[in-house]
Amino acid sequence: MRNNGNIILIGDGAIGSSYAFNCLTTGVGQSLGIIDVNEKRVQGDVEDLSDALPYTSQKNIYAASYEDCKYADIIVITAGIAQKPGQTRLQLLAINAKIMKEITHNIMASGFNGFILVASNPVDVLAELVLQESGLPRNQVLGSGTALDSARLRSEIGLRYNVDARIVHGYIMGEHGDSEFPVWDYTNIGGKPILDWIPKDRQDKDLPDISERVKTAAYGIIEKKGATFYGIAASLTRLTSAFLNDDRAAFAMSVHLEGEYGLSGVSIGVPVILGANGLERIIELDLNPEDHKRLADSAAILKENLKKAQE
Ligand code: LAC
Repeated sequence: MRNNGNIILIGDGAIGSSYAFNCLTTGVGQSLGIIDVNEKRVQGDVEDLSDALPYTSQKNIYAASYEDCKYADIIVITAGIAQKPGQTRLQLLAINAKIMKEITHNIMASGFNGFILVASNPVDVLAELVLQESGLPRNQVLGSGTALDSARLRSEIGLRYNVDARIVHGYIMGEHGDSEFPVWDYTNIGGKPILDWIPKDRQDKDLPDISERVKTAAYGIIEKKGATFYGIAASLTRLTSAFLNDDRAAFAMSVHLEGEYGLSGVSIGVPVILGANGLERIIELDLNPEDHKRLADSAAILKENLKKAQE
């Protein structure tokens, strides 16, 4: 894939505009084109973001059209309706699947051949749909998956045990949603397994507590402020920079499986190495039987929903 640092963002809602601002303040990308059905809002954001240029990083920010996708290295999709308080991500499927198909068609009609990062929910099902509709190889279409949930896991552990979240390593795997789960066997603080860090007599309480807080984090935020955007925007910015800079860093992302973890025909959150080719490799962890079953159950839920989206 070619890489000139050209980003196109599709979907200029709360998440999209937070992402655009974060790319600017952290110096990610050379140019940033924005597409949204609300063209007036895009124009407003282009003007507002451009005002920040002298104090942030040099970048060409513009209102893009689908024809511009031809020159994009990475397209980030945040378009679609968002969860309302109490709604699950899967309940957004019918409407967002339709929007995603149309967007994918428009992107591909431009002659685009770069990397697509899907963030719209339900992200796993929509990433799979975009992959199928685009005809691109699987390394070029990933969903943000459980990258954000894994960040929430690290952050929760950091706060709880009073350590820097950046030295906490671990993944949430599976659906970005209610069937996701933490992989405790591979979670560590500064290299020390979490199962050795937390005293045995506290594990029965602490582990389910952390897991539940991570899984329900978005519900709590949506209930309080109507939407989540900074956490996901920071995740998308980090994933974008890992791709543009060929970091070959590890994230849990939604990727189409072809036999890995004994699964296929489904996009689901598993650890991957992300670099200039998009998906560089899937990290196949040796899961214990319980976690393996959790992943398989989560994949079954996603497959069932994918079928519904294809009807
Ligand atoms: C969240 C949304 C992005 O988890 O699904 O915050």
